[in-house]
Amino acid sequence: MNFGGILAGGKGTRMGKTDLPKQFLMLGEKPIIIHTIEQFLISPVIDAVIVAVPANWITYTQDIVEKYCKDEKIYIIEGGSSRNGTVMNICKFITENFKDEDNIVVTHDAVRPFVTQRIIKDNVELCKKYGATDTVIPAVDTIVESKDGMVISNIPVRSQMYQGQTPQSFNVKAFMDEYNALTEEEKEILTDAAKVYVIKQKQVGLVMGESYNMKITTKHDLKLAKLMLNNLNEEEE
Ligand code: CTP
Repeated sequence: MNFGGILAGGKGTRMGKTDLPKQFLMLGEKPIIIHTIEQFLISPVIDAVIVAVPANWITYTQDIVEKYCKDEKIYIIEGGSSRNGTVMNICKFITENFKDEDNIVVTHDAVRPFVTQRIIKDNVELCKKYGATDTVIPAVDTIVESKDGMVISNIPVRSQMYQGQTPQSFNVKAFMDEYNALTEEEKEILTDAAKVYVIKQKQVGLVMGESYNMKITTKHDLKLAKLMLNNLNEEEE
């Protein structure tokens, strides 16, 4: 089976002071997280959607899902204390409830509501080929590396640089095996789930994202997302 794994276990601290964690803020007529869940619900390649939120937001999430997009394919569970912890909780839930060696999870930031059907489909297809995928866009700006934040240590060739987005997709069993084999120190530094594969020299297939598959991190991003939504709605009319 193929699962959508919606990562919504964060607090959204960079959004500043808000009444709700950013994934629950309104974007147009519905909360950001609902836009994201809906994209996975309508995908023909996704069989069920697991939504992981902070423990004290589970009831709230159940209420808004009931209100906006009630569907028996949705499971709401508790997230982890780190982003990878949330990915692991989703994988554990899948393993315990859906026994299949070939289960694939398409993990996606709840705060990237503009993910497309093409991106989700490409993730599932490429994950079947490589066992893991990452969604990226080519870097438009030159990437400058500085190890000390004072002077440049390297300027990599731009044509080989990409910016990471989500979804990131994995064969559930293989991901859990790789993650559980890591030392506690390795787990600390692996803030990105695809890096679990990269440090073990395993292949991760690249899915081309879209520049508008943006992550809503700050108040400015939310303003931009509202403008984009209006624009998309106008295009549809
Ligand atoms: N996330 C998660 N579990 C965590 C931390 C983050 O599922 N323990 C999710 C967030 O809810 C978000 C996505 O990962 O949908 C991307 O992370 P980010 O934008 O960094 O979200 P936050 O951690 O909420 O934001 P901040 O760093 O500003 O606190």
